[in-house]
Amino acid sequence: MKKICLVLIILLAAGSFVFASGAQGGSGGAAAGGSALIGIAMPETHVLRWQKDGASLKTEAEKRGYRAEVAFGDADQTQQNRQIQGFLTQGAKLLVVGNINDGVNSVIADAARDKVAVIAYDRLIMGSADYDYYITFDNFKVGQFQGQGIEQGLNLASATAASPKYITLFAGSPTDNNSKFFFDGAMSVLNPYIDKGVLKVVGPYPKTSADNANFQRIATENWQAPLAKTRMENLLSNDARDVVLDAVLAPNDTLARAIIEACLADAKYAGGKLPVVTGQDAEFDSALSIKNGQQYMTVFKDTAKLAEAAVILADQILKGQTPNVPGASLASGSLTSIGDTGRKVVKAYLLEPVIITKNNISVPVNAGFYTDAEAAQLR
Ligand code: GAL
Repeated sequence: MKKICLVLIILLAAGSFVFASGAQGGSGGAAAGGSALIGIAMPETHVLRWQKDGASLKTEAEKRGYRAEVAFGDADQTQQNRQIQGFLTQGAKLLVVGNINDGVNSVIADAARDKVAVIAYDRLIMGSADYDYYITFDNFKVGQFQGQGIEQGLNLASATAASPKYITLFAGSPTDNNSKFFFDGAMSVLNPYIDKGVLKVVGPYPKTSADNANFQRIATENWQAPLAKTRMENLLSNDARDVVLDAVLAPNDTLARAIIEACLADAKYAGGKLPVVTGQDAEFDSALSIKNGQQYMTVFKDTAKLAEAAVILADQILKGQTPNVPGASLASGSLTSIGDTGRKVVKAYLLEPVIITKNNISVPVNAGFYTDAEAAQLR
């Protein structure tokens, strides 16, 4: 009799362990994939790329047997926090979060308390020690590409201090940590030319984002294009009134197109005499602008690849495996700081961006980044 009781106790204990691990999504592959919910919180939709990111993340998660829900925060962190709380209430086992600002930290702490894994998606969650993973592109390299676009577009290697080129500077949202990496990458290319006097800055000049006072003066709250357009109009009427600008450092495509719009309304720049204007995200309207000789360059960050890599990482985390993400390298050496939240250095997985000018628009086209109708206009 005693033997039967002992066997029963052992069987019951084993059963509860398997149920618990399945519920935690710890070791169960099918259990984790079959029923686990992945909550996907994207920051906004006014920058088109996030619509693609949300759709790709959901598709990739469902491909691997997960349930997936996408929410867009409309650049309002309070709204995004409510959405994330909703995911936690529904029992999400993992969150993929593209935050708006570090006001997200309170719900990231809630997720940690509930043992829900969090992946910071394309934007580092600053000031938090409550998560372990970040996946993005090499954002410093994105900025270097923007700087190289201006270097190439103005042929700075041959410029002289006797007849300098003129540039004005814009940065992304001050609440988006990426903005500092983009800006510092670009200035790592441009500062040597400014030091030599062959490139002159019109308007505020932070040498790097560490000059916070001047960085804030060129930053663009929540990446809002109307703010960039108004600031460019003010520059054209004031600081840049008596010079012809040769370049504008624009941190992404939505701001680039707003800046170009302001320039085209100024007689100095109409009729094809636009400054070299940079961008990133390879948005269709900007790819078309580059093809038509207006915007000078953009950076292709294949968000389909980023989304696939993020879900592969999520799947490995939920299955308790040591992450090894194809197509993404774990930041190390000087790049480790990309994962520094100020409270913890999280594991940062970096994908490679690609510089796009009128000579290689075929790259995002051939990657299937656009609709057929859009691709036809770019060929
Ligand atoms: C950044 C992102 C860029 C661009 C920008 C505007 O965080 O890395 O690709 O999308 O946001 O939303």
